[in-house]
Amino acid sequence: MSDTGPGEAHDTIDALLDEQRTFPPADDFVEQALVAGTFLYDEARQDDEGFWARQAADLVDWSQEWDTILDWQLPYANWFGGGTLNVAHNCLDRHVEAGKGDKVAFHWEGEPGDTRTITYRDLLDEVSQFANVLKGLGVEQGDRVNIYLPMIPEAAVAMLACARIGAPHSVVFGGFSSQSLADRINDAEAKVLITADGGYRRGEVFPLKPAADEACDASPTIDHVVVVKRGGNDVTMVEDRDHWYHELMDGASTDCPAEPMDAEHLLFLLYTSGTTGKPKGIMHTTGGYLTHATFTHRYVFDLHPDTDVFWCTADVGWITGHSYIVYGPLSNGCTQVMYEGVPNHPGNDRFWELVEKYGVTIFYTAPTAIRTFMKWGADEPAKHDLSSLRVLGTVGEPINPEAWMWYHEHIGGGRCPIVDTWWQTETGGIMISPLPGATTTKPGSATFPLPGISAEVVDDAGESVDVGGGYLTLTRPWPGMLRGIWGDPERYEETYWSRFPGRYFAGDGAKLDEDGYLWLLGRVDDVMNVSGHRISTTEVESALVSHPAVAEAAVVGATDATTGQAVIAYVILRGGEEVDGEALRAHVAAEIGAIAKPKQVYITPELPKTRSGKIMRRLLRDVAEGRNIGDTTTLADSSMFAELQAKAAAATED
Ligand code: WT7
Repeated sequence: MSDTGPGEAHDTIDALLDEQRTFPPADDFVEQALVAGTFLYDEARQDDEGFWARQAADLVDWSQEWDTILDWQLPYANWFGGGTLNVAHNCLDRHVEAGKGDKVAFHWEGEPGDTRTITYRDLLDEVSQFANVLKGLGVEQGDRVNIYLPMIPEAAVAMLACARIGAPHSVVFGGFSSQSLADRINDAEAKVLITADGGYRRGEVFPLKPAADEACDASPTIDHVVVVKRGGNDVTMVEDRDHWYHELMDGASTDCPAEPMDAEHLLFLLYTSGTTGKPKGIMHTTGGYLTHATFTHRYVFDLHPDTDVFWCTADVGWITGHSYIVYGPLSNGCTQVMYEGVPNHPGNDRFWELVEKYGVTIFYTAPTAIRTFMKWGADEPAKHDLSSLRVLGTVGEPINPEAWMWYHEHIGGGRCPIVDTWWQTETGGIMISPLPGATTTKPGSATFPLPGISAEVVDDAGESVDVGGGYLTLTRPWPGMLRGIWGDPERYEETYWSRFPGRYFAGDGAKLDEDGYLWLLGRVDDVMNVSGHRISTTEVESALVSHPAVAEAAVVGATDATTGQAVIAYVILRGGEEVDGEALRAHVAAEIGAIAKPKQVYITPELPKTRSGKIMRRLLRDVAEGRNIGDTTTLADSSMFAELQAKAAAATED
């Protein structure tokens, strides 16, 4: 554990607890809602395993029914043992077989304005073809496939093709560097990499293939690289290793049976940051994950699959994209919008233009995006007819009540319920959230655990807290839970199950108010949350120290009005070396990716340390946020601190 704790968040929670407004579901919403009242909660409380089994039977197609609902050998869960199913069949074939082949799966829009309309039949054909292509490249059940793509339909096609043949995928966000990609490929020992020449972002083509090439140079397990043509930028194709997607697809058969997989077959790995420098390969399996994703997508968003148009603005490189662009929505057979680029190209109203154009009814985005829209002003959404919207969602970090109210008023027109959804890469799907037809919301609170989910706030000693602050824990296994960390069972047990015996520890602080509402307070470990993305302080520190001029580095996340937290770095240079902050920022971007780039780099002769040599991050955060540092008598040398504080003050004034 780090030196931080839930006490840190007291200022935030004091502010949040002044929040007295409540928003009960409107009568006309309740009337049409899938869930009104408490029946689903009551049912799940009586028998959570039976509840999940019913969801699995109602919402998912099985080739063979399970023998056991849950086999729980703490901390290892086996859901629906003996059952078999195919995820791609559930997302595609069953809808086409039910006569919905002509239904639009994706209204895809490229950043330059080009569009593609993809029906369920189109998607089934393309996925089947690509599954055959993968087989042709030697991919067999159980082989790992890496995916490094922009937000183009081929990303969903590649994931589903892997699922169809039982080859676990590992998607790496296109904003990560070649080094990050190589680390992930090597950890997973992937055979095939699927990438693109480039994609569009901020009006320009950003190249992906050169980074993929560099990664492959450092990844001996990759036999083949499949390249989607999107950006049109020049690329070098390595003979025998690299193949154009369109050439392989040309003539590939659309006949590829979806083979049943065991319920616990590995569906995918997704890497996320922990408190050490090495990202964790989070393992998700087939039956439980699909049940959880399908159930939550349907009930949290009150999905009416025949009429709703769902838009989740996440990238498929994150868990949100996996669960709420690919698996949940397609399993539910709904129509979606998928958009390639940034929200401000060509204008600051691009998202609202798309909502109007496609008649989006359910919109799911991150608080950091909402705060950005607030900065751009209410005039931007006001240019468009947003009356099709009926449910709004947020994910990724706590939403401040001001942003919640702005979202409610200026995007939701005061009529749309907002679901603030708390979950993690590890949980696979939404865990704590309102149900829009059943829950009275409070701006800034994620409200209650979903039916079938058991959460508790505990104090330092692991004692359950009824009212007040502490650590968020989960007390019962759930179907979408991670099954482990790839290749590292000790780390799995240590990270999630050791802090509070018998409980899953999420790493988040939380508080329960007098009405039993949950308020999330942010991370309590050395993990930052920048724009809803997890970045480990250690990972950025390692990247900085890998620069030849850097002797030592300390990184903290400081509160930032737009991104939630910002990466702030304090760096000690090696004797005789000189380098400026900008070069170090660029170095971190090259090592990890632009998302991890520090907002500020302070070059300092010393770092504040305890007598035992531990860097005092809390103090560094106080300095970065311009707070009074208070008592520093435990510092080894407090004299340097005045200097750091003065630099921070100067930077805030800029
Ligand atoms: C961490 C998980 C789940 C997809 C996006 C991020 C924070 C997430 C909320 C929320 C407060 C939230 C937590 C969590 N978080 N949603 N609604 N309210 N905090 O996935 O990268 O695995 O990060 O994001 O700190 O632990 P992730």
